[in-house]
Amino acid sequence: MAKSSSRSIGYLITTIILSLLLSLTTADPTCSATESDFANDPALHTMSFDIGYGPQEMLTYVQPDVSTFYHLPEGQRTAATPRHNGWAAKFVNMSNKPVRLFWDPQNGRPGSIIGNVQPYNAAGTASFPGHAFYVTPAHDENIRLASWQVSPPQSVYYYDPITIPGDEEATQRNLDQLSTEEFEEYQRHVDNREFSKQYFEFTGREYLAFYPRNPPSHKMWRADYYGQQHWVTTRETHFVTLPDEKELGPIQEVGSARVLKENDARILQEYRSPEPVLNMTMTVLSCAPRAFEIKEFLSQAEVDHIMYLTTGMKLHRSTTAGANGQLTKEDLERDDTRNTRTSLNTWVYREKDAIIDTIYRRAADLLRIDEALLRPRGPEEQVQLKSKRSLAEALQLVHYDVGQEYTAHHDFGYSNIEHPDQPARFATLLLYLNEGMVGGATQFPRWVNAHTDQGLNVEPEVGKAVLFYSQLPDGNYDDWSHHAAMPVRQGEKWLMNLWVWDPTYDH
Ligand SMILES: *[C@@H]1O[C@H](CO)[C@@H](O)[C@H](O)[C@H]1NC(C)=O
Ligand SMILES: *[C@@H]1O[C@H](CO)[C@@H](O)[C@H](O)[C@H]1NC(C)=O
Repeated sequence: MAKSSSRSIGYLITTIILSLLLSLTTADPTCSATESDFANDPALHTMSFDIGYGPQEMLTYVQPDVSTFYHLPEGQRTAATPRHNGWAAKFVNMSNKPVRLFWDPQNGRPGSIIGNVQPYNAAGTASFPGHAFYVTPAHDENIRLASWQVSPPQSVYYYDPITIPGDEEATQRNLDQLSTEEFEEYQRHVDNREFSKQYFEFTGREYLAFYPRNPPSHKMWRADYYGQQHWVTTRETHFVTLPDEKELGPIQEVGSARVLKENDARILQEYRSPEPVLNMTMTVLSCAPRAFEIKEFLSQAEVDHIMYLTTGMKLHRSTTAGANGQLTKEDLERDDTRNTRTSLNTWVYREKDAIIDTIYRRAADLLRIDEALLRPRGPEEQVQLKSKRSLAEALQLVHYDVGQEYTAHHDFGYSNIEHPDQPARFATLLLYLNEGMVGGATQFPRWVNAHTDQGLNVEPEVGKAVLFYSQLPDGNYDDWSHHAAMPVRQGEKWLMNLWVWDPTYDH
């Protein structure tokens, strides 16, 4: 049977169902976010589009006028062009053969491999304008099937050996060589590319996800203007003194047995602040990307505990208050493997003990996510989610010495499109464990603002948290969530990352 670019009925129906799920965010029963969260968000606009299946609508994110970030009427301010010109680059393989993706140094030297791209999948990286990439067949790296130069505002580059523009006959011959499954995969990409075009025209941003992708299943805090505040109360109050190690064994309960009741002995109330709740203040630092700071998210006792757990050392109290984070002689003597250990990342599981569990519960309240989503669940918990896996990763402890940095990157990745829900990192919670170093800021180099071409620098402070989202409220990935750990020039830096995924965690 000759295949044509008219779509098969089965595929059409699937697309209509997916589009319906997508078009009204509240129609999806897996969405825990409320309708008003989306409906009142001034950054969301209804986009009408047609990718060949008739007119459809979808709520899309359109970056508000920068004036509104200053609480001013539209048109009063103009966005500065950031000095950092980094840009997401995504390469999509629309062929039925695997390809290898290379970065081209453009100096006559061989390219560096970025990755193998399986058929109908994609690879990507944080890049810069003018950088060049190419794909080769898996079997011969000397054949360049296609090459591109990164040219903003384009982020997504397609390798499509099937459709030959202006040559319908050749295109048809290529289509005829595809199996039915390959044809359907190819058609999904054609639809995605067409959707992306219309999304770009409407929003001014590239569609970095793969159409259709649902809006986040979690709520998202609004960031309408700088300095805007949100308050979140949590009964996960601060530890002010530390229990004896004997009282802090690993958590054994599983599933709903982990739900805490009032006065549960596991809360260890006698070691906590006497107030019944902790009132956390979130302050908007950046509106695009949405980034917030939460001072005193962790108490000093909690920070001390984490440092002790992960390095076997106690960070001397005075060093956390500004003495360049240096360790005392005793600290160094206690751990002579420090140099190798601290240059590595360490992972801390939620089940490690009640203090780490408390930090996850507090983070869940901050994000307005059920704490059960951040751990393995019992069969009766969050039944709308087939997967019982945690949506959170283990806490990642990171240490930076003088000269160390992490250049600008994104926390999201491009999931395999065989996952219909496209799992991706949704939110990052950075927890600072020390302060007083020189350098070492967290930088958002491309934050949208009207007063500087410099990045937004967030200075580490003991116990402070920074929350930012890697996704937009419409389910697309946020290229502007680019962030960097600036080099430490004096002292050292300790922090933890907590990553929460949406709508599932693809281990
Ligand atoms: C492109 O996709 C085809 C079909 O899925 C696959 O066989 C091929 O390896 C992919 N190429 C790359 C570079 O990923
Ligand atoms: C939390 O703190 C803010 C700022 O002080 C205050 O306006 C708000 O009422 C507090 N919320 C609660 C529940 O105490």
